[in-house]
Amino acid sequence: MKRTLGTCYYPEHWPEHMWKEDARRMVDTGLTWVRIGEFSWSRLEPSPGDLHWDWLDHAIEVLGAAGLKIVLGTPTATPPRWMIDRHPDMLAVDVDGRPRKFGSRRHYCFSHMGYREECRRIARLLADRYGRNPHIAAWQTDNEYGCHDTTISYSDAARTGFRDWLAQRYQSVDALNRAWGNVFWSMEYASFDQIDLPNLTVTEPNPAHVMDFRRYSSDMVVDFNRAQVDEIKPRSDAPVSHNYMGRITDFDHFAVGKDLEIATWDSYPLGFLEDRVGASAAHQRAFARQGDPDFQAFHHDLYRAVGRGRWWVMEQQPGPVNWAPYNPAPLPGMVRLWTWEAFAHGAEAVCYFRWRQAHFGQEQLHAGLLRPDNQDAPGRAEARQVAEELRNAQSVQPTQAPVALIFDYQADWAWATQPHGVGLNYFGLIFDHYRALRRVGVSVDILPPDTRDFDGFAVVLAPGLIHLDPDLADALSNADAHVVYGPRTAARDQYFNIPDPLPPAIPKLNLTVSRIESLRPDIPVSLHGGGQVQHYIEEIEGDAEPLMTTETGAPVVLARESQLYCGGWLDDAALDRLVVMLAERTGLSTLALPDGVRCRKTATEEFWFNHTTATVDTPHGPLPPAGVLRRAL
Ligand code: GAL
Repeated sequence: MKRTLGTCYYPEHWPEHMWKEDARRMVDTGLTWVRIGEFSWSRLEPSPGDLHWDWLDHAIEVLGAAGLKIVLGTPTATPPRWMIDRHPDMLAVDVDGRPRKFGSRRHYCFSHMGYREECRRIARLLADRYGRNPHIAAWQTDNEYGCHDTTISYSDAARTGFRDWLAQRYQSVDALNRAWGNVFWSMEYASFDQIDLPNLTVTEPNPAHVMDFRRYSSDMVVDFNRAQVDEIKPRSDAPVSHNYMGRITDFDHFAVGKDLEIATWDSYPLGFLEDRVGASAAHQRAFARQGDPDFQAFHHDLYRAVGRGRWWVMEQQPGPVNWAPYNPAPLPGMVRLWTWEAFAHGAEAVCYFRWRQAHFGQEQLHAGLLRPDNQDAPGRAEARQVAEELRNAQSVQPTQAPVALIFDYQADWAWATQPHGVGLNYFGLIFDHYRALRRVGVSVDILPPDTRDFDGFAVVLAPGLIHLDPDLADALSNADAHVVYGPRTAARDQYFNIPDPLPPAIPKLNLTVSRIESLRPDIPVSLHGGGQVQHYIEEIEGDAEPLMTTETGAPVVLARESQLYCGGWLDDAALDRLVVMLAERTGLSTLALPDGVRCRKTATEEFWFNHTTATVDTPHGPLPPAGVLRRAL
């Protein structure tokens, strides 16, 4: 497949006389795609029903005539001011019960049916007008669902919707009382109408209540997105996408992705390093201008799964951003490295955000490929270089990775609902496993929890699945691969109750977790032979073979044939040992990589990426800072 580049453009920000030259320069840079429209509602419909298509008609015509393919966004992440007058109760409500105000973006509640109808209407109008336009080559719904903490809203609309959702799920309130264990603290309800949202309670709400509200909130994102897709699909053959974000896990992306042809995501490596990787200060310092060496790759692999193989980077950081605690400029070469890394993981396209830095508004300090004065910013030369390299390079051929890692959004909500210790979170646990594999050059496929076929994988990692679907448990038990479960596998049933018999109840392993502890960060448990258990540890009964024990001899990792259980959160050194054990048991091949260097294998090639600020030696020659090495296998 031919890999392509693009950019995000806001024709409504610039006088019309600039559009033609902008389009020419985009093509001259080697760009194929331009995404437009996703925040333009106030210009499309300045007052209710007063539609102004002329400018968008013209923009599409100018960009298309220059040879660019257009991704058209629906503008529903930015309802205009008049919308709030029409639907004053459409604003999302925060956990403290305060409505979020107009004045930025994403100020809507996913449960509000009046706003959802407005979104259907504008999506329908756009699709009616442009669905068959030859320049419209893809669609984007909304912009970054869940960004700015917007998945969960404690509004009146959410309360009504949640009650209906519960009535459908449980059918009778007695069934709900039983499932949630509402006899505890006399929380029993006599009707669904008595059930409120789980905020502003005196102390913690019932975890079953919280978990169901999180499931409901995720379903609302799925329904909201589907409402737009249902309007676009009958009117256009162009694929429909959505641009997801980094480390936003409040809704089930796999469920949203099932209604879309392409998953895209927005990659801001330097912003993420400061804002959401959760790394130590030393790590942040070492990678300040390069970004975390694994965070982007993790999301590439995750969204490849969400898009069932079809995925893009819709927004790629091209220079300093404006929104993280600190916003340094990338090391020269990193924009090129990030782009090639996305292609090595299978991206169809990488689009830079944004074309030109704005003079006004919240993102004045966000770099583009061009400066506000229309001169080239450093990112443009790197984009041009990649475009030239793409012209001359053979295409990237994806292949199945040797290791699979299961990612389950519901497990993330379950950990968040009952973390059992400060800072314990599912994303962190998963990411630690992912990093351990990448440190030794192992490529990873991330899989959704409804996967039943593990053919071709040497190893399947399934850490932290608090609720283990019986069909998945079956598939994992019968997989040919080595499977690693735990910690917390099957620790709760679907109603968030502790099962009896006690977990993990994995047929071939015959183990019982008899007690769990969470650990202060300053009292990890040392392992015999190196490494530690941190944050969380289980006491395990059973007669499987212990592969790792504490210094006092308690089993932590146990195995019976190809089924393994890990009863704790292993630190990096212990995870490295686990990977070595798995490689020895399965013949998985690993590499000795210098710190901060990462490798990704495709069907025919190996890519090496130097995320450090120094030249490193590789078996294939020296690799400069931000260097990319591409070699045939
Ligand atoms: C993204 C968003 C863009 C822009 C960008 C700035 O999250 O989709 O609209 O705000 O961040 O980095």
